[in-house]
Amino acid sequence: MTSNTVKAGTFISILFLVIALFYRQQVDDVLKDRLNSILEGLVKVEKQCSVGVKPKVAVGYGACNDLFIDGKELLKYDEVAKKPEHFDDISSAEELLKTYAYFFRHGAAAERYISNDTLFDTIVDIASRIEGSHFSLGGNAPVMAKRFALEGCEVLLAAKMTPKLQESLPEGVTVAGGDIRKDDIHLILEYKANEEWGIYKSPRANRFIVHNDDNNPLVSSLEEFNKLLKKFNPNLLVVSGLQMMDNYPYPKGVREQRLLKIRDQMVAQAPNTRVHFEMASFVEAELLYQLTQFIIPYADSLGMNEQELANLYNIMLYGNISFVSDSNPRVATVLDQMREIFHLVSRSSLNKEKSHQLTRLHVHTLAYQAILTVKNSPWKNSKAAAAKASLTANRHVCGSKEVDIEKAKLIMDDSFSTSIAAGSRRVPLDVDQPVSCWDEELNAEPGSWFAVEICIAPVLVCTEAYQTAGGGDNISSAGLYLQI
Ligand SMILES: *[C@@H]1O[C@H](CO)[C@@H](O)[C@H](O)[C@H]1NC(C)=O
Ligand SMILES: *[C@@H]1O[C@H](CO)[C@@H](O)[C@H](O)[C@H]1NC(C)=O
Ligand SMILES: *[C@@H]1O[C@H](CO)[C@@H](O)[C@H](O)[C@H]1NC(C)=O
Repeated sequence: MTSNTVKAGTFISILFLVIALFYRQQVDDVLKDRLNSILEGLVKVEKQCSVGVKPKVAVGYGACNDLFIDGKELLKYDEVAKKPEHFDDISSAEELLKTYAYFFRHGAAAERYISNDTLFDTIVDIASRIEGSHFSLGGNAPVMAKRFALEGCEVLLAAKMTPKLQESLPEGVTVAGGDIRKDDIHLILEYKANEEWGIYKSPRANRFIVHNDDNNPLVSSLEEFNKLLKKFNPNLLVVSGLQMMDNYPYPKGVREQRLLKIRDQMVAQAPNTRVHFEMASFVEAELLYQLTQFIIPYADSLGMNEQELANLYNIMLYGNISFVSDSNPRVATVLDQMREIFHLVSRSSLNKEKSHQLTRLHVHTLAYQAILTVKNSPWKNSKAAAAKASLTANRHVCGSKEVDIEKAKLIMDDSFSTSIAAGSRRVPLDVDQPVSCWDEELNAEPGSWFAVEICIAPVLVCTEAYQTAGGGDNISSAGLYLQI
């Protein structure tokens, strides 16, 4: 080979590289343009409506002081953990290690009650001294209350909290629930993916939570809250935090009693107070079943993520729940489940007191937001609410008010079907008008129809997560705020 051909060869390779880079740059630019258009479209819709008077929102129930710690820093591996086992409530250090091992090796999230006070206080004491551990206000209700207050609402929060913990709430939140000497601590043991603990390796990052909390499972703030509720006369009552009733050792019949008290509170609200129930990841099928009997038929609105939707759908249709569900379901699947739930809930509330009737469903998934509202119901601004919920998802996870498209990606497809039924309409994602809304007629009670509006907004998924916990609560509240 002469040096000329070498030179020519080198020249050609460099030329190809330059061309390849050029095209790649162009593809990147096209992608960025798309994301930018979607972002502009969402922001425009979000800003289209304004909320006039300061809305009043009452949020139930509960609060806790979350103590975050690196799991392996607190729990030293011990031989007893070789035999993993799960206990519904934990009474000794040995049971704690075995239960931790049980969930750690599957990378599965779990929350357990520690019935031994001495044990719990001891481990909290140790955990709080370990460097890197930190406290923060926890519980679904406080997160939602904070979001509403930050949006400018006047908020009444049902919770038992020490004055010290109350200081971490923003202005505009009043706490109703009675005094407490010591906050309920939830110890959150975090671990990363592929982390080693003795003979185990975690397949994914997750958290194991233990608590010794008797206030939240018993919804002990309910009565005090009730005293103030009537006078407060809110536009919206939010029922949340009920997953604290999961796996708690109640005396027989006590959980039903408490749920019935919550139901009474929902039913007692004046017609101008709408009632929203925010789901959570319930583990016990029995509790979920009780919710479909005592809580869900009395709500005007329901909020949930895709997993909670699948669980609710399964329990209402088949009476069972599955713990593994598709984490990125198609729009068509989610919409079909929403229609079915709307239908079943409307039927289940047929012979019940009619002061409240399901007229809104909001499903938040990683990839998109779906909001279904009954036309001519008091819920307004569905389109803007879907856009705001979508933007809040990115803002919350990225931890920034401004959405940065350099840290965002689109997971939703270029178009979606409105149902999995053959011949369903396909809706293309229009980057200039990213929120799609349309009207439908839904079968409700036998022989009656509801005209509904459905809106779908794509999420600009945050690629550099700053925080994930509390996302659903923020997203749901943001959507509700524009609709009351
Ligand atoms: C409770 O925990 C303490 C401290 O770990 C332990 O000494 C005691 O035996 C435990 N009680 C029961 C009933 O297991
Ligand atoms: C729930 O029940 C249905 C119908 O009986 C069945 O097809 C489904 O596999 C069940 N799911 C689980 C998780 O058991
Ligand atoms: C969501 O709520 C939490 C707790 O109230 C707050 O720290 C966080 O900043 C909120 N996220 C957004 C996007 O406002």
